[in-house]
Amino acid sequence: MPKRKEPGKPLRIKVISMGNAEVGKSCIIKRYCEKRFVSKYLATIGIDYGVTKVQVRDREVKVNIFDMAGHPFFYEVRNEFYKDTQGVILVYDVGQKDSFDALEAWLAEMKQELGSHGNMENIVFVVCANKIDCSKHRCVDASEGRLWAESKGFLYFETSAQTGEGISEMFQTFYVSIVDLCENGGKRPVTNSNASFTKEQADSIRRIRNSKDSWGMLGVKPGASRDEVNRAYRKLAVLLHPDKCVAPGSEDAFKAVVNARTALLKNIK
Ligand code: GTP
Ligand code: MG
Repeated sequence: MPKRKEPGKPLRIKVISMGNAEVGKSCIIKRYCEKRFVSKYLATIGIDYGVTKVQVRDREVKVNIFDMAGHPFFYEVRNEFYKDTQGVILVYDVGQKDSFDALEAWLAEMKQELGSHGNMENIVFVVCANKIDCSKHRCVDASEGRLWAESKGFLYFETSAQTGEGISEMFQTFYVSIVDLCENGGKRPVTNSNASFTKEQADSIRRIRNSKDSWGMLGVKPGASRDEVNRAYRKLAVLLHPDKCVAPGSEDAFKAVVNARTALLKNIK
């Protein structure tokens, strides 16, 4: 009789949630663990802690979840909890641009607390673009969020703690990535950490998206010559052509560049 494969030892992991107050961190965890949603806002005071068991392949995983308070007031409480973390759920509200812009500051806070010996490279980060059910108020679109996440090698999911959309897919992928990391000796597998696009592509898309006029989109000074416009256009067209560039938002950026060049050339003699 063939030997049955021994299941691996139960794995203990630590996961924390991060993001501004009221973005929905506690609700995302509650939706997954308790399958319910509470619409009344109950701010987390300092830290909420819970344990849950999940199965990943043949591995039983014991997950210690530390749900952090987003309010700056609780900094002194939560700063103790960053160390020895394998996974971070980084949440923003798609209707609050500030909460998206704040993600960098959350990473900086974690980095500072981990100190010089801390290594952020070998932690799995998943970004949740939450409250997608409130589509009327949405101001951070999917490609902007995905671009930010993927250019850092983070996972990205669109979620709604209210409807449950994206929640179990997010946790499932998150846990699988953490188990992969643990089985890889605590190092992020190479495939997960390398974005499939370059920093230059990501930076160009962001610049184009944030430009107020056609000059800015092409990255030339107002009043640039036809030659300069064409040169800048050709460089960006090669960089961002949708056949070559898979970065989120590249198609829109490419179209914007084509339109910007047409508009500028009309007015330059
Ligand atoms: P702190 O604990 O203060 O850091 O906040 P938090 O990020 O844990 O936010 P919480 O989960 O408590 O949710 C804040 C508010 O947003 C509550 O009123 C929730 O009902 C609401 N909320 C959370 N997720 C969603 C969602 O996906 N859709 C909608 N419409 N509301 C949500
Ligand atoms: Mg909370």
